[in-house]
Amino acid sequence: LDKKVKQNNWEEGNFINYKKMSENLAIVRSRLNRPLAYAEKILYSHLDDPHGQEIERGVSYLRLRPDRVACQDATAQMAILQFMSAGMPSVANPTTVHCDHLIEAQQGGEKDLARAVSINKEVYDFLASACAKYNIGFWKPGSGIIHQILLENYAFPGGLLIGTDSHTPNAGGLGMAAIGVGGADAVDVMANLPWELKAPKVIGVKLTGALSGWTSPKDIILKVAGILTVKGGTGAIVEYFGPGVDSLSATGMGTICNMGAEIGATTSLFPFNDRMYDYLKATKRTEIGDFARSYAKELRQDDGAEYDQLIEINLSELEPHINGPFTPDLATPISKFAEAAKANNWPDEVKVGLIGSCTNSSYEDMSRAASIARDALNHGIKSKALFTVTPGSEQIRATIARDGQLQTFEEFGGVVLANACGPCIGQWDRQDVKKGEANSIISSYNRNFTGRNDGNPATHSFVTSPDLVVAMSIAGSLSFNPLTDTLKDKDGKDFKLSAPSGSGLPERGYDPGQDTYQAPPKDRETVNVQVSPTSDRLQLLSPFNAWDGKDATDMPILIKAQGKTTTDHISMAGPWLKYRGHLDNISNNMLIGAINAANGEANKIKNFTTGEWDAVPAVARDYKAKGIRWVVVGDWNYGEGSSREHAALEPRHLGGLAIITRSFARIHETNLKKQGMLPLTFSDPADYDRINPDDKVDILCTELAVGKPITLRVKPQNGEAFEIPLSHTFNEAQIEWFKNGSALNTMAKKAKN
Ligand code: F3S
Repeated sequence: LDKKVKQNNWEEGNFINYKKMSENLAIVRSRLNRPLAYAEKILYSHLDDPHGQEIERGVSYLRLRPDRVACQDATAQMAILQFMSAGMPSVANPTTVHCDHLIEAQQGGEKDLARAVSINKEVYDFLASACAKYNIGFWKPGSGIIHQILLENYAFPGGLLIGTDSHTPNAGGLGMAAIGVGGADAVDVMANLPWELKAPKVIGVKLTGALSGWTSPKDIILKVAGILTVKGGTGAIVEYFGPGVDSLSATGMGTICNMGAEIGATTSLFPFNDRMYDYLKATKRTEIGDFARSYAKELRQDDGAEYDQLIEINLSELEPHINGPFTPDLATPISKFAEAAKANNWPDEVKVGLIGSCTNSSYEDMSRAASIARDALNHGIKSKALFTVTPGSEQIRATIARDGQLQTFEEFGGVVLANACGPCIGQWDRQDVKKGEANSIISSYNRNFTGRNDGNPATHSFVTSPDLVVAMSIAGSLSFNPLTDTLKDKDGKDFKLSAPSGSGLPERGYDPGQDTYQAPPKDRETVNVQVSPTSDRLQLLSPFNAWDGKDATDMPILIKAQGKTTTDHISMAGPWLKYRGHLDNISNNMLIGAINAANGEANKIKNFTTGEWDAVPAVARDYKAKGIRWVVVGDWNYGEGSSREHAALEPRHLGGLAIITRSFARIHETNLKKQGMLPLTFSDPADYDRINPDDKVDILCTELAVGKPITLRVKPQNGEAFEIPLSHTFNEAQIEWFKNGSALNTMAKKAKN
């Protein structure tokens, strides 16, 4: 294990550290003394402190040291801006950025890419220059979708990666624990802070039998989603094992792990096997494959590993499935699908079939899909539905262009889109139906919530394997079952489609296509990060002020929020996403969805200095301009929802000091601490009711100490002041964040000393 094996073919100096991992694991094993699941092995071998870390699945918070970070272009903006504000010369851990989310599908690959490059120029220029400056690998627009690029280049068995996108788990196809996180977590790892994760539970999925015919790897996760539902994987890692695993290609395993995000799983994983070795070899990483073989014993579960839940699937009996509409866990086997479509009044005509995306655009997927399209062409027919292909990467696009699958799709009537997310994330200028018109589309993507693909709430979006997408597109009907039904050839004669076939890996190797990678230059000092001062999409961040060392007195309550206050209420998405790289502009959405306890309305609060009712951000800005710090009072589980760091950055930016609630969603609470705010809870939740929105408050910040309450002095407009104890969860290190103004300020201070 002493060997120096590089993590990938792009970076010098970053090695796979199986030696350290096995040492850490030995320490943990001696403490736990029980067989471990594979997921546990990866996590525990990446512990910051394997000796002292408390480890209880579903209970403890693990402090981890991931091997890598990956960001997509939408979430990378704020992550990098924050990282920059720490003033560190380069990222502390290997990081890559991938431009895939901002390319709209309109006319087809090349034109769409050219348009995106011009519309998003300032964002791309910023990312490219910041990556060059801070030693981050930059994958330009057109390179492909983040998860496909990670699988092709960066994933390795036993590794731990965090990525700022929900489908990061795709890398589980190469036995890596790859976890989707918010930008704030990515910043931590870039800045060398340990990364915190609640020790996940482990769900085991035992696969027996073997896939054949029309059934594909996608059907495994479609079935699992049906069993576990969209919430069933929450707080758990899904770990596959059993003899059925060997009938799956590495990319097929990637598909399964990718869509594990749809059941809320922390990530999904397969144990290292020969199919992964083959894929590593095909992607020019034989050395990694050999190294993994030398550590293979720890790249799988121990005998007798215990699972919190166990599911068994016999692949020989598994039918192809179609999931949807509107939710990915509504799973229907193909034999029942026509009936279900009729019973539920789903529009029978398939308007558009879409294959590709990060979920399903491997060489195998494309080859199998092309074999079905070719079969139809041989019978003189084409796709009835509109048909699009989104290659997952430039390498896939170039390889299927060389080997002919791409030409088959075009002959079949397909439009080949840019190597990017496109319609999967709603970047789709769809023209064939009007908004509001009920219609059905079917894709090989992973997510199908209302409006996701085309912004039309009446679109019934179904997800399935690329094979079934092609078959249903040929028939143009949801009631078609390619396993049993016939089609008419060009002469009106009946024929049945042959089951798909195609190789898992290209016989002639992958064609890398155009060079779309920008490595950080040797001389990074002279690089200038490009942010135009007049930009409305990007704004450099200045470090937040340090604490003044005093108690805070006479603060107004900006808003006493009542009921559910999610991160969406605190920092809305939708059109605001455009400003996610511009803190001041996006702050205009701060708390505009929260309900004011004073009047039961959203975005209408009283400015105590003027007596006027106004929008929340406007009042906060007025207080800030007048040098008045403020607090927010919140209800139960404040900040639930996503890990969106803007929900913590905005109140800090507009002059908030503390958020005082009945309880917090843990991630938001941590995000607030990171930004130097005080997330505090009423020691007695009933005290929430003793606060009037018009009250002024003092917070005795000087009392802040680990495990001790802190005093809130409430000063009602008419009446006696009284004191309320507030609780908090600050540890020693986090108190430093508050004192220094933020976690990043603390890191910057450390880096200087
Ligand atoms: Fe992109 Fe859709 Fe995947 S948005 S990352 S292709 S899930």
